[in-house]
Amino acid sequence: MKDFELMLASMEGFTGPGFRELCYKKGADSTFTEMARTAALARGNKSTLEKIQIPKPIPTYIQLLGASEKDLDIFLKKFIPQKGFLGFNLNLGCPSPNMIQKGLGCALIKRISKVILLVQTVRDHNHPVSIKMRLGMNGFEKEKKVYLNLINKVDADFFIVHARHGKETYENPANFGVYKECVKTDKIIIANGDIENKEQIQLLKSIGVKGAMIGRAAIKNPDIFKNLR
Ligand SMILES: Cc1cc2nc3c(=O)[nH]c(=O)nc-3n(C[C@H](O)[C@H](O)[C@H](O)COP(=O)(O)O)c2cc1C
Repeated sequence: MKDFELMLASMEGFTGPGFRELCYKKGADSTFTEMARTAALARGNKSTLEKIQIPKPIPTYIQLLGASEKDLDIFLKKFIPQKGFLGFNLNLGCPSPNMIQKGLGCALIKRISKVILLVQTVRDHNHPVSIKMRLGMNGFEKEKKVYLNLINKVDADFFIVHARHGKETYENPANFGVYKECVKTDKIIIANGDIENKEQIQLLKSIGVKGAMIGRAAIKNPDIFKNLR
């Protein structure tokens, strides 16, 4: 990882191989596939397997959405990394009520022992593993700082913190105030949410955040990666 890594966010329907390659050429250091359901990968579902293909050696993390270490293990036994593969990223941020009902996405933020099991399963197969998370499933969890508890207790390579809780929409501004306490855990923290200019990058660097993940601003203008340097 660079001193300060610029990452293209995982975005369903947008971050296929073509867009990942474009953003890499524009200066993104690494990119993420859109989320793929681990249960479907374990079953060998064709269209889900398609989502995690890395046809060209562009630096790519594969993002997984799931809460079953058994499914994860079944999938990983069959998984063969392609050139460009950097590691797996576990989705603890999806706020969709459908997923939350199944205990997935941001419902996982407070399920520490489950997340530790998932991380260990990926490590058992000798792959790098990181986490993308929100601040909690709702305002109550955020107030209780479940995100800090997770960052403290889980041993992942890095933590991408989308600075909103699961009930907040894009109309609520991302909460840049949380990064300081996240960095204090001494884990590697990547900031995400509403990042679009150099002043924000300077602020994040001064706090000790190790990178920024850019989503919607890259869809609007992939040159953002060049402009943020
Ligand atoms: C269309 C769209 C699809 C998204 N799909 C995913 C996804 O598959 N996995 C994920 O972790 N986040 C997903 N997100 C959230 C983004 O990765 C990111 O966390 C969020 O947009 C905040 O960053 P931004 O303000 O730079 O856009 C999606 C966001 C958008 C707008």
